Amino acid sequence: MDLRILVLYLTCVFFKNSASVDNRTFPETFKFGSATASYQVEGAWNEDGKGENIWDHVCHTNPDFIAEDDNGDVAADSYHKYKEDVALLKELGAHYYRFSISWARIVPKGIAGSPINQAGIDYYKRLIQELVDNGIEPMVTMYHWDLPQTLQDIGGWPNAELVAHFAYYARILFENFGDNVKLWLTFNEPKQTCLDGYGLAGMAPAYGSIGIADYRCTHTVIKAHARAYRLFEEEFKAEQQGKMGMVVDTAWFEPGSDSDQDKEAAERALQFTYGWFANAIVNGNYPQVMIDRIDARSKAQGYTISRLPEFTDDELEYIKGTHDFVALNIYGAVNVTWKEETDVNDVGYWSDLNVNEQGIDGPWGMRKAVNWLSKTYNNPEIIITENGLARPRGLDDDDRINYIREYLSSLLEAILDDGVHVTRYTAWSLIDTFEWRSGYTTTLGLYEVDFDNPDRPRTPKASAGYYANVIKTRCLLDACE
Ligand code: NOJ
Repeated sequence: MDLRILVLYLTCVFFKNSASVDNRTFPETFKFGSATASYQVEGAWNEDGKGENIWDHVCHTNPDFIAEDDNGDVAADSYHKYKEDVALLKELGAHYYRFSISWARIVPKGIAGSPINQAGIDYYKRLIQELVDNGIEPMVTMYHWDLPQTLQDIGGWPNAELVAHFAYYARILFENFGDNVKLWLTFNEPKQTCLDGYGLAGMAPAYGSIGIADYRCTHTVIKAHARAYRLFEEEFKAEQQGKMGMVVDTAWFEPGSDSDQDKEAAERALQFTYGWFANAIVNGNYPQVMIDRIDARSKAQGYTISRLPEFTDDELEYIKGTHDFVALNIYGAVNVTWKEETDVNDVGYWSDLNVNEQGIDGPWGMRKAVNWLSKTYNNPEIIITENGLARPRGLDDDDRINYIREYLSSLLEAILDDGVHVTRYTAWSLIDTFEWRSGYTTTLGLYEVDFDNPDRPRTPKASAGYYANVIKTRCLLDACE
């Protein structure tokens, strides 16, 4: 730990060591890491042959879309400062680094068979080598929301053709990076890709076709995931020995009461959120409750078929079992109560789901969520791929320390008391990033980035010191039993 980090940490060790924090240690085999994503940190948006992606496009053509008209053109400049980022990971003692690859940096036009950008491949080779040289495992997200614009121009994810384009890109990744990358994550939070990007107009490409394009998007994404998994399994896995999964996010949905109706509503919310993707890749299809509800509502709305597309029997077989672990991004908890059926003519994901939701403060939801995953998906290996707190700028982020400590404490109980097979925890994010619609107005980093300084210097926050100590001691308090 360097001096800067130690001083910040010591200013924090005396505060609120809440009695509810678990005072046992994480198992020796448990790994801690941190994460970022390409568009959020790299910058260099048009350097060395990179193609335009949907975030470049939306930020440049519609600046009002982002707080303070900002964009990721430079971001944290990790394209040039990746060695500094790796040094921060080393300082933290992180066991692994989750980062994403920018598709348009590798295949600028995105289309299968179109030219490959060697400079893009070389950049990620340098980053991966730097990690390996420092004893830090690379964990690679293949798609973290930055679709090449050319693929959006042919309709984006609702277009089933994207399965083939994604497979072309996936093969390039396995061929070039598979020697050193043993952990692959196909898609990050596909719910946000599909629901926010195509259902709503909340994220790029801001399409806005709720209850229709979002379900088509999901259908393609799940098939693209399965195609990448099978490609890897058939041609690379035996030699490279890697593992693959999909990053799915959910809050913990807590029933508002003990009533059967509230319990059913909370389970339905979990199935419509996590199950939407996980049930498919584990069991082969969408959750039955989604199939039934969307079918019934579609018919009542005058459709002759469901708005939720159907997989063929061959597709069901092909998709089933395309995971080596399940991955979870979790940031909060939600209180759920049963709701009267809304206007049947309302076409949309939320009316298809139809529950009342109220966000609550609930770090204890971590334990419940991983228990639910364990029970629902037959005791898989579980990786927490994101967890963290958004807050204003500032180095004294005691609230973030509390947040991490409470979520980790809840996770520790799940591991030690419930025997849930969780193997990794990933703090989001390593450094401050371009936080999508919020631009640079909120931060999640363990390290602050000064976005007003052209050099983008990084400075540790108190939470970096706390997290470094957790990794070193495996203990969430000053001392453990
Ligand atoms: C989830 C996303 O994967 C990540 O890109 C984002 O920055 C965090 N949540 C925080 O909002």
